[in-house]
Order: sequence, then C-alpha cells, then structure tokens
Amino acid sequence: MSTKDTVLELFEKNRGFFVSGERIASELGISRTAVWKAVKKLQCEGYEIEAITNRGYCLAKSSDILSVQGIRNYLDENAASLRPEVFVTVDSTNNVCMKKAGQGEDEGYAAIAGAQTKGRGRRGRGFFSPADTGIYMSILLRPDAYPGTQVLRLTTMAAVAVCEATEKLSGKTAGIKWVNDVYIGGKKVCGILSEASYALEDGRLDCVVVGIGINAYKPKGGFPREISARAGCVFDHQSAGKRNQLAAEVLNRFMAYYRSGSTDDHFEAYRQRSLVLGKDIEISKNDVVRKARATGLDEDCGLIVRYEDGSEAVLKSGEVSIVGIEN
Ligand code: BTN
Repeated sequence: MSTKDTVLELFEKNRGFFVSGERIASELGISRTAVWKAVKKLQCEGYEIEAITNRGYCLAKSSDILSVQGIRNYLDENAASLRPEVFVTVDSTNNVCMKKAGQGEDEGYAAIAGAQTKGRGRRGRGFFSPADTGIYMSILLRPDAYPGTQVLRLTTMAAVAVCEATEKLSGKTAGIKWVNDVYIGGKKVCGILSEASYALEDGRLDCVVVGIGINAYKPKGGFPREISARAGCVFDHQSAGKRNQLAAEVLNRFMAYYRSGSTDDHFEAYRQRSLVLGKDIEISKNDVVRKARATGLDEDCGLIVRYEDGSEAVLKSGEVSIVGIEN
C-alpha cells in the first residue's frame, strides 16, 4: 500500500476526529513531511481534510468519496478476503473484471468505480453511471460449485444482497423485479448484469463477473429524461461515508450467500422480496405483449407464468412489466 493509502486508512478509522501529524508519523513509521505530502495528495483527489496547527488533521465526517480504505472499514468476515480496487472513472467495471480474469486474476477481485463512461445494462443497453452519486461495482468469481444453469442464481443473490444492504442503511423497503432490478418506492435504484466466460475447448465455466450498479443519491443534473420516470435513488440526502458503507454491506451480504455453498439459502429471501410473484404482469417478448399471472420461480430462477388462456411457461429471459408498477 502506498503512503497515501495508509494515511487514508488511518483517517477513515478516525473520521471526524483530529489526529496529530506526529501521531500519524509515529503510527505509520513515516516522517511528518511524508504525512503532509500524503494529505496534500488526498486533498487534490477531493478528500475534505482539515488541517489545524497544534491539532493535526481531520477527515471531514461529510466526506463521501469511494475508497478501498473506506470500504474495508465496513467489510465483515465473509468479505474480508475480497480484493477491492477503487477507480474514479472506468469504462465499465465489468470490463475491468473481465480483463483481469483474462490475465489470470483469482476469484475475489472487485472493481469499484465512482463513475463509468460505458456502463452496460442488460440487452445491450447502457447504464447511466454519473460521478459522485452512484456505486458501480463488479465482483470476479470462479465458481466451481455452480453449473452453467445455476449461474443466474448469482444474479439473484446479488439482488437479495442489495435489498438487504439498502434496507439496513436507508430504512426503506426494497423489492426485486424479476430477475435483477431492485426497486424502492416504485423506482429502480439498482440494476445487475452478470456476465460469464466459458473455455472454448470444453465449454467449462471459466469465470463470472457480477456487476452491480446502484443509484445511491439523485444525480446532480437529475436522471436523463428517458429513465427519469422510473429511476430512483437509495438515499434522500448525501451523508458521510455512506457509499463506502453501502458498497461494503452489499459485498458482505453477497459473499455470505455465495460462501454458504448452498444456492438455496437466498432463494426464500428472493421470493419474499419479489415484486412479481402472485401478481398480474405483462410480458413483452419479440414486441408481443401478453397478460399473465406470475405463479412461481423454478430452481434456475426462471419465472413460471400462467397466461390468460391457461397455458403455462417458464421465462428464462424477456421483459416483464408489472401491472400497476411503473416499469
Ligand atoms: C441493468 O439494469 O440492465 C443492469 C445494469 C448493470 C450495471 C452495472 S454497473 C457495474 C457493472 N458495470 C457495468 O458496465 N454494468 C454493471
């Protein structure tokens, strides 16, 4: 870790309190000049660090910049072995992870960005990823235990993890629109895109990248017109370290499910949070819209539906719109 990063780690642990340059220097075994240089670099990166003679330095309580140190502060034993890397801006955190995977990176690497220039959504769509208000992160997994058909379950695990984490930190109830969108108060606050790579020779699953995009706060210029009616955010107001905490909490919950070894653990939680099950929905496939009742989920998280004519189907993909909920 660089000197700047270790100084930041110490500030994160003492957020809102003054720490003297002398104490920082002695705890980290560096000179006071090195501390001062690290503080200057952090300030240039946007960290609000107050410096007062005879008191030392203080990372403002209100500072809400994503950082490895800020995230690590909140990781629990399930996620402690993850290797998060934080970027100010990338094209897509899924791309970063896929590239790392191609270079032989092990499971557990996580790319987290404050903004994306080419955020990807499902079905070739983009994912609006402005700076300072969202969390865009991807986790690289090499899951031996999950046969190809069960990979979709990783997406649903992520959806449950996001619901649990956002509820814990915002106090608002979160639900899941099949298969991977998290909603709060009728608005989409999170989208999830899992991508897999398979070995050409034997079709073996090489890696999965689970990409999670969360609108933590309302973007400064608002949401683009095309999505403004259905997009929402987790928190009403910006507050100290919340994005780091939320990112960590999602990783904690996700890794707890992933490590449990059983793909069933999260299934009941997913069902309970489903905004679709038991509801009348409209299914749009190949531009044909049909009305149906969502009756269940199969073991691969396919949506079981009964159409108005009584016929049944299991949907593996396709757009689902729920009657009465803006979609
Ligand atoms: C969707 O709503 O269609 C899925 C959106 C997934 C967005 C996330 S943000 C982090 C990761 N990187 C990407 O480019 N996409 C996913």
